[in-house]
Amino acid sequence: MKNIVILISGRGSNMEAIVRAFNLEKWSARLCAVISNRADAAGLAFAEKEGIPTRVVSHKDYSDRKSYDAALQAVIDKYRPDLVILAGFMRILTTGFVEHYTGRLINIHPSLLPVFRGLHTHRQALDAGVRVHGATVHFVTPELDGGPVIAQAVVPVLPEDSEDSLADRVLEQEHRLYPRVVRWIVEEKVKLTPEGRVRLADEVAGSLDF
Ligand code: GAR
Repeated sequence: MKNIVILISGRGSNMEAIVRAFNLEKWSARLCAVISNRADAAGLAFAEKEGIPTRVVSHKDYSDRKSYDAALQAVIDKYRPDLVILAGFMRILTTGFVEHYTGRLINIHPSLLPVFRGLHTHRQALDAGVRVHGATVHFVTPELDGGPVIAQAVVPVLPEDSEDSLADRVLEQEHRLYPRVVRWIVEEKVKLTPEGRVRLADEVAGSLDF
């Protein structure tokens, strides 16, 4: 039984998609907590309604990244997590924090990494004139948005797209992609090797139909 902790900063729609899949598919895991760095994160209400413990660890209560990350780590570790899921957690994490969770920390990023790292990825895609765009789930390493890719979802970029319409199309795919990858990890079908590469079980590698 894997212990899962989810970190959010806002809307929490990816967290919601994961919780819904967890309930529907009855994963052999525990959703231990949803933690936010912002008390006003809309996603907290959904988690509470679902009976999942919620915590707020506000970055405003700490003077620097290192002390914030240490406090956050202490709260997370109380749940003895096997997996820590960043679901729209909009904080840059310190190397010490990231390395503490090597192989147990995953993120979803709204672009086809390694292109369009950082913020405003849909604007970046439109400005670059690419024809396809999407989302990536990856293991987190100290390099921002640079960790080994687990899976990606691809969407077309249409001539009439605005930043919002493109974001909506990508988000719809995020909600399919992220729960699927989390389930694979729960079922031990995905692993980060000591060499820092992603190993997928054969059945999973064959089902990458995004
Ligand atoms: C999602 O689009 C996610 O990919 C993105 O923030 C949004 C959060 O939405 N994450 C990042 O940009 C991380 N760099 P949500 O709160 O509704 O899940």
